[in-house]
Amino acid sequence: MTLFERQTPPTLIGNKSLAQRPRRLRTSPALRGMLRETEINARDFIYPLFIRHGSQQRLPVRSMPGIFQLSVDQAVQEAEEAARLQIPAVILFGIPETKDPIGLENFASNGIIQQAVRAIKGAVPEMIVVTDVCLCEYTDHGHCGVLNLDGEHFHPNLPEGYVLNDETLEILAKVALSHAESGADIIAPSGMMDGGVAALRAALDSGGFENTPILAYAVKYASAFYGPFREAAQGAPRSGDRKTHQMDPANANEALREAALDAAEGADMLMVKPALAYLDIIWRVKQAHPELPLAAYNVSGEYAQIKAAAQNGWIDEEKVTLETLTAIKRAGADLIITYHALEAARWLAK
Ligand code: PBG
Repeated sequence: MTLFERQTPPTLIGNKSLAQRPRRLRTSPALRGMLRETEINARDFIYPLFIRHGSQQRLPVRSMPGIFQLSVDQAVQEAEEAARLQIPAVILFGIPETKDPIGLENFASNGIIQQAVRAIKGAVPEMIVVTDVCLCEYTDHGHCGVLNLDGEHFHPNLPEGYVLNDETLEILAKVALSHAESGADIIAPSGMMDGGVAALRAALDSGGFENTPILAYAVKYASAFYGPFREAAQGAPRSGDRKTHQMDPANANEALREAALDAAEGADMLMVKPALAYLDIIWRVKQAHPELPLAAYNVSGEYAQIKAAAQNGWIDEEKVTLETLTAIKRAGADLIITYHALEAARWLAK
């Protein structure tokens, strides 16, 4: 053998000694199925429902095809359908009859959410009913809390219109207690107020609801992906934004601080929201708090994008949806709040 021949690298074509061939494990559907690391299931889903007053009402949400504002009787039917599809939980958002500066219907015993919780628990007792606790859908100004305005509670050192933290907590505590009294199974504070979990834990405990879990919207960004939701829930702020309480999308370390605080305050489960542009945050929060179940909120803007592209025939809706939900779970979410829940559950059951 000449020196030249020995230095010629062996060609890979026809080489029988290639030790690493990852494709070996992808040769058949059975192998791929056996080795799949992440599997989504209807039991991972929490289905959001928007509830309005009236009866026999199903008002389509323009920017969220397939999603409706439902009267209580219709919401019950939707919950029954979710139960048939093995979806364990719904999360409720209410559209009140009238709005005012602090949102009185939010903690009224005959408020829209209170009625809906009683009706759903009455008709489908096994359905886990989660209630979102915030002020934005109930206030006439559309903000998530009590505003710093002229009057007896004015804080001269804070800007006019600032969302007051501690005053808001007092109202949120009443809302949480009222939801629990109506039969809500899980309370989910979404307002990103400091000390929110501690305040709600204390209120629930003092009302005899020490066994009612709190699902904390621990890490919630000031995101433009909530656009369609604000149409669906009619809760857009009249002016301004939510940047003094919701997080800056540029921040990740701060997410760990928020998650740690909520865990320390007694949150039973954590949430990251939105999901898709924040898969890294889901991953980090799960790594930091493996002891707590983690939910991710696949928000309205994420849903609207898939629906719009699918309606144009630009993507395969079923495949893109299931791939998206799988990615959210792979990133570390144990539970996914998603508007796709019913359709995805049907596809998964095929
Ligand atoms: C606040 C709340 C919002 C969403 C859930 N809870 C809106 C907001 O914070 O502005 C958004 C959910 C979505 O976009 O699907 N009550």
